[in-house]
Amino acid sequence: MTLSIASDNGQEIEINSFRKTILGWYDAHARALPWRAVKIRGEKPNPYHVWLSEVMLQQTTVVTVAPYFEKFIRRWPEVADLAAAPREDVMHEWAGLGYYARARNLHKCAQVVTQEYEGKFPDTQAVLVTLPGIGAYTSAAIAAIAFDRPANVVDGNIERVMSRLFTVKDPLPGSKKHLAALAGQLSEGRRDRAGDYAQALMDLGAGVCTPTSPKCGMCPVQKFCSAYVAGIQADLPKKTKKKPKPYKRAAVYWVVNKKKEVLFVRRPENEMLGGMLGLPTGGWKESQTVTDVVSGAKQQNLV
Ligand code: ADE
Ligand code: SF4
Repeated sequence: MTLSIASDNGQEIEINSFRKTILGWYDAHARALPWRAVKIRGEKPNPYHVWLSEVMLQQTTVVTVAPYFEKFIRRWPEVADLAAAPREDVMHEWAGLGYYARARNLHKCAQVVTQEYEGKFPDTQAVLVTLPGIGAYTSAAIAAIAFDRPANVVDGNIERVMSRLFTVKDPLPGSKKHLAALAGQLSEGRRDRAGDYAQALMDLGAGVCTPTSPKCGMCPVQKFCSAYVAGIQADLPKKTKKKPKPYKRAAVYWVVNKKKEVLFVRRPENEMLGGMLGLPTGGWKESQTVTDVVSGAKQQNLV
């Protein structure tokens, strides 16, 4: 039986043939990334490496993540080593990667895996998703990449690839569910190289099916791509305009004592840069001008 999925403009994608094509391309063109097992050398994916890289990659690019990943595994070769580290050390190594809640959850997750799972990562998406810092995307990615479990792995790259393969004209983020359902139809119940398939789509999105000027001329799945056939690939995915980010100001204080020591504070957990050391600040407000900030501080006798 051949299974096909119709795209929004009527072209059909034959699932087995699509998977075979993209996996063949991945065998020849997979990026060599420090957390990837090299299967021709007989290496098996290391769940600790897969988890660490996926958490780092949640909001950060491959190029930025790579040296941080290397530093972490050099310093903490096993998940139990990371669990045993003082939190300040973990936060310190994470500094520069951003979204610091990830580092706190990373450390918590390492402790749960070490204490409750004897240092072995759970191998199903259902259990992985219960761990700190592991959501729908990350649990699917770990289940597929570390354990070759069928899972629907959908990140921003894969959403873009799906929107083009199937000519989804509804804008993101509203179309997320539809795009995930399409990706799901291509991966549902598939035990054949689930992890390689997910990473093949990621690599395709990162290097070929790029946000602007996709390189369709060198695309292995061009013949499956309904947007390419219609010549509208560069216009997809459509996006609903985002609200502009608020611009906030606050006073930052440089407080020095007689010994010329500067005051740093540990920032509150649930705020921006939570858990990091920083200079003390006043409240962040959208409307205030620099003059407001300075006069507010003067009124409180802070400057
Ligand atoms: N982005 C997130 N996870 C990735 C992975 N395993 N390989 C490449 N890019 C990624
Ligand atoms: Fe993306 Fe072009 Fe390939 Fe379609 S043909 S999947 S738009 S790179």
